[in-house]
Amino acid sequence: MNDPPKLTEYGLPVDPQSMVTPPEATELELEPGQPGIEDAGYVERRRELFGRCRRHRLERLGPPLVDYTSEETRIWREVTPKLDELHVTHASQMYLQAKRELAITQHEIPQLRHLGERVERETRMHLVPAEGALPYRIFYQYIGERGFPVTQFLRHGSHPEFTPEPDMIHDCLGHVPPLMNHDYAEMLTLIGKAASAATHGEHVLALKRFSWFSIEFGLIEEAGETKVFGSGILSSTGEIPYSLLSSEVTREPFVTDTVITTDYDPSRMQDHLFIAPSLPFLRQELETLVRRFGL
Ligand SMILES: [Fe+2]
Repeated sequence: MNDPPKLTEYGLPVDPQSMVTPPEATELELEPGQPGIEDAGYVERRRELFGRCRRHRLERLGPPLVDYTSEETRIWREVTPKLDELHVTHASQMYLQAKRELAITQHEIPQLRHLGERVERETRMHLVPAEGALPYRIFYQYIGERGFPVTQFLRHGSHPEFTPEPDMIHDCLGHVPPLMNHDYAEMLTLIGKAASAATHGEHVLALKRFSWFSIEFGLIEEAGETKVFGSGILSSTGEIPYSLLSSEVTREPFVTDTVITTDYDPSRMQDHLFIAPSLPFLRQELETLVRRFGL
């Protein structure tokens, strides 16, 4: 009998089975040293939103309407103009068009419930409230059902330009706009279905890396220029110029077999990126990969 394959993720060995059946947090967990962990009011707010969003997710109630505090609005108003300015110059056309159609303003934090209704009319994707980062396979199970999990809390005000975990700014300005694009929505749904159907840890890991280097941290070719495509880059004022201009970053053409065997460290700025020639190319590559895995 063959030994199960040995897998490495984030530089460490990982149990293939934990890729297939990942553990799920049932209570708010903040990392030591995370901004806001010493701020009792912030932690309390995070707990409250965690409980509400988790309940709405599990009971399939859609995103709750949230009364954002003046501090949360202040953070939104501080970060979004800086991101908007960078997007105009560096984001892909597909993203810019979708963001205009969603009419997301710098002034008020949008309600995900309303954004979700608009997205659903366009591409039949809907938004699922998430209490925090969900394990990859659970995340993609929702996506396979055309639901995109989104958080509703904001990062701590002491570090408005940095968040070690996905928050409302990352989700709302990074992930939600591309859901308005039909090719993108179909590609996502296919990853979701494949990740849900996969029973081998190495297949889940390969799909996770495919998503990471495209949907989260992908660059894309557009009219002879390299533009930002990935949501992780689009939602970070530091990561946008770093990804395109820094000499520390290796940028190479998106070759699926290289991508799915490339490890990454999610806790730092991404210094190894792949440039896809187009969105239809990514979709086709994914379809080929999924077929190859027999999913
Ligand atoms: Fe993300």
